[in-house]
Amino acid sequence: MKVYVCETYEDLSKKAFNEVKKTLDENPSAILGLATGSSPEGLYKEMVSDHQKNGTSYKDVKSYNLDEYVGIDENDPQSYHTFMNEHLFNDIDIDKKNIHVPSGSTQADADAYEKELSQITIDLQVLGIGCNGHIGFNEPGTSFDELTHIVDLTENTRQANSRFFDNDINKVPKQAMSMGIGSIMRSKKIIVLASGANKANAVKAMVEGPVTENVPASILQRHDNVVVIVDKEAGSVLTK
Ligand code: F6R
Repeated sequence: MKVYVCETYEDLSKKAFNEVKKTLDENPSAILGLATGSSPEGLYKEMVSDHQKNGTSYKDVKSYNLDEYVGIDENDPQSYHTFMNEHLFNDIDIDKKNIHVPSGSTQADADAYEKELSQITIDLQVLGIGCNGHIGFNEPGTSFDELTHIVDLTENTRQANSRFFDNDINKVPKQAMSMGIGSIMRSKKIIVLASGANKANAVKAMVEGPVTENVPASILQRHDNVVVIVDKEAGSVLTK
């Protein structure tokens, strides 16, 4: 794992953008794995602004998102479909038919997404990390071999995400569909973004802790091409 501790969230976002740009320069038809949430918002801003200023094109890029809530409509303002449209897809020239975001509510729907994933290889997967070490919605205790599946969200995660639901945990869906750790680990390269002091312990456990299913992100120590990009608050308890 390479670890970069950046001074600010803006620096982190620029560094993450450089990784995306490098991937696109090498292969304009690259396949990107994308995450939602606060961590990649700055990266997506950088991608949009670079597209507008420098014309970097996404017309041949394919994207596969990590996860989506179960039980809310794709057009719901809180859905991950909407998040991706508003933070990235509406403002770049990606072909809508090349966008893939999990949808549905059954394991058969999850299997169908996994089947699509099994036919491609993600060149660059963008990840955030939960305060409990989750990646995607793979909560502590999830098997490292798990593929795309329906997840019961923990209280902890629903509480953390209630900030997007009027701070009301009762409005946060109870389930999601998520790529599994097995699906994520097939990516050629992975970047993990984390910002803020509340992520510091999870970042330390991911980078320095034992590899254990209790900290899903710790499996990334076994992947040979992972770049962890954090701001100084999220990197504050790292040993070096
Ligand atoms: C989102 C996802 C989650 C988030 C994680 C961190 O698609 O898969 O694992 O990356 O919960 O969320 P933020 O970035 O909002 O702190």
